[in-house]
Amino acid sequence: LSHFKGKDFVELSDYTAEEIHFLIDLAIELKRKQKAGESYRPLEGKTVGLIFEKSSTRTRVSFEVGTFQLGGHALFLSKNDIQMGRGEIIADTARVMSRYLDGIMIRTFGHENVTELAKYADIPVINGLSDLGHPCQVLADFQTIVESKGKLKGLKLAYIGDGNNMAHSLMIGGARVGLDVYVATPEGYEPDPEVVKQCEALAAESGATIKVVRDPKEAVQDADVIYTDVWASMGFEEEQKVREQAFKDYQVNEELVSHAKSDYIFLHCLPAHRGEEVSAGVIDGPNSVIFDEAENRLHAQKAIMAALIG
Ligand code: CP
Ligand code: NVA
Repeated sequence: LSHFKGKDFVELSDYTAEEIHFLIDLAIELKRKQKAGESYRPLEGKTVGLIFEKSSTRTRVSFEVGTFQLGGHALFLSKNDIQMGRGEIIADTARVMSRYLDGIMIRTFGHENVTELAKYADIPVINGLSDLGHPCQVLADFQTIVESKGKLKGLKLAYIGDGNNMAHSLMIGGARVGLDVYVATPEGYEPDPEVVKQCEALAAESGATIKVVRDPKEAVQDADVIYTDVWASMGFEEEQKVREQAFKDYQVNEELVSHAKSDYIFLHCLPAHRGEEVSAGVIDGPNSVIFDEAENRLHAQKAIMAALIG
């Protein structure tokens, strides 16, 4: 565990496949401990700051509860209520907060805000979602896949919809651990080409297949895991109508999932919109494990905090 101490958690590419599996195993063990009522308090006497520039249900609640369960204290810091919202620069915020806190989580728009905070803070910085990536979510997703399928390597995950932060972190994480990730998007909504390039390099090491395709059926064919996310992410709300048109053939519904393996699992980071990116029949159906996945945010983040800050 001491090997992780002081590290940042900005994207899964910063961690090796072995380290990612270590964190998943730790998350599974912390889940067991919590359900057995065994206390584990590596954050005793420590305080974690949670900076939010965007809304959140799962990330906020799971970080606050997780810090409490690990024996620490969490501070919810809405960007508009701290001086950062009035223009105090990130470099100063980072250096000041490093004098009080033991770790910082940030949810923000521009990814450079995360890297800038990580550069100037001398305490661990955790990416709680940026426009580029959402690695905490993917660690919980991978935990959910391991719990259900027993492994990651050699499985096929199909991501249908917007080539957004979720698509990026799933591709990067998959490329790292050897999970095949097929991303199907409409034209104009492909993942960032820089991320695709980075994934190709990572996949060359792990043997994963990372592919961006147009046809959702090609992505879903024989898939073990089907994943989707909202069509208009936070910050893109004004494009909702245009996107509904662009994504109309990209709904995960009964017809589409019929091309996957019969024991596929359905994942969604949530929040979800039934009748848009996913039909009610699929998200509320027998293959959906979305609430186990949401629960695992708590356990996966406790693993990250225990390893980095504990
Ligand atoms: N999945 C996720 O990050 O949810 P919140 O936006 O509610 O935190
Ligand atoms: N892509 C979504 C994920 C929310 C958890 C967004 O950025 O709004």
